[in-house]
Amino acid sequence: MSKKQALLEPYNLNGLELPNRVVMAPMTRSRATNSENKPTGELQGEYYKQRASAGLIIAEGSQISKRAVGYVNTPGIYSQEQVEGWKEVTHKVHEANGRIFLQLWHVGRMSHPDFHNGELPLAPSALNPNDKSFTPEGFKDTVTPKAMTIEEIKETVQDFKNAARNAMEAGFDGVEIHSSNGYLLHQFFNATSNHRTDEYGGSIENRAKILFEVIDAIKEVMPENKIGLRLNPSLNGIFGMTMDEETIPTFDYIIKKLNDYDLAYLHLSEPFNDVSDIPYAETEIAKRYRPMYNGTIIINAGFDQESGNRVIEEGNADLVAFGKPFISNPDLVERFEQNVPLSEYNQDTFYTPGKEGYLDYEAKTERAEALQ
Ligand SMILES: Cc1cc2nc3c(=O)[nH]c(=O)nc-3n(C[C@H](O)[C@H](O)[C@H](O)COP(=O)(O)O)c2cc1C
Repeated sequence: MSKKQALLEPYNLNGLELPNRVVMAPMTRSRATNSENKPTGELQGEYYKQRASAGLIIAEGSQISKRAVGYVNTPGIYSQEQVEGWKEVTHKVHEANGRIFLQLWHVGRMSHPDFHNGELPLAPSALNPNDKSFTPEGFKDTVTPKAMTIEEIKETVQDFKNAARNAMEAGFDGVEIHSSNGYLLHQFFNATSNHRTDEYGGSIENRAKILFEVIDAIKEVMPENKIGLRLNPSLNGIFGMTMDEETIPTFDYIIKKLNDYDLAYLHLSEPFNDVSDIPYAETEIAKRYRPMYNGTIIINAGFDQESGNRVIEEGNADLVAFGKPFISNPDLVERFEQNVPLSEYNQDTFYTPGKEGYLDYEAKTERAEALQ
């Protein structure tokens, strides 16, 4: 008998039993095509149910308020209608014996006035990311955002808290704070996007402050061991983010301080692009942060079956999150188990409305078919 793959070993996620270590990474699919930006059992429910054999599903970034949105047709988690829609989704996943967290999202400056009745998007500082925003009328250039007042920062922290409370009411097993990929919280961390001179800028501690305020606020409405968060320390040249000498020391500070909490997990991304020629970038994220963090580490970005098993065996991560492979392989776990080749994904339907490219990727293995 061959040894069981590391990815297929069960794992206790701070109290939540996972049958394997294959995590579905959060992925925006832009299918909440209704005026309330509400998910439905028929679409999102079916999609996540098809993928319920994942050790853990982290459902797509969901805006925590109207001000938090930056892409067309993404679901929200701030209104009662949205909570009712998500209930249908979590119900279907749980019926299929799955586990599902929701990612709580504020895009900050990665937005456009078209989403806000002409008002400017909010950000730590009035600095244009010089990127594109996917608006109802197609891609448009981002603008110079409005620097948030202290009051707006405090309201945003409350929005995260309300969204977490809503996610619990909707039946999620936990939440993931989206503090990654160039969105609002990440914009606070990097000195290149945060020029504030008040208590939220100027030093590493100040730039990280909002994240800890968000965690502390969410802790008031749900157990700490159901809260995860996501970081992408070496993001550079993507989503408007630029690193500098202080970037990695900022993430070192954040990650060491996370040891003061008893979180569900820390979800890290390896660099999304080649950063080997940037002297102050870290090219090996899991290796750097494993020794600094005492809790569970989920690692992501560019992994396959072989490298996923290896990173766990080498002790650099506990779980591996797969993004694109899960789009076209609803039965990814069973394919790993049975060594069935993976199906290719079609990028053209990543963000298009409806079932095409969403519900029509077939399972090619037995156990997964039983789930459908
Ligand atoms: C279609 C698509 C949508 C995504 N949406 C999100 C998102 O909502 N939140 C997030 O943190 N990352 C998002 N990502 C990034 C993925 O979670 C993941 O980090 C990335 O795809 C790299 O992992 P992979 O190589 O396994 O695909 C998205 C990626 C894709 C392809």
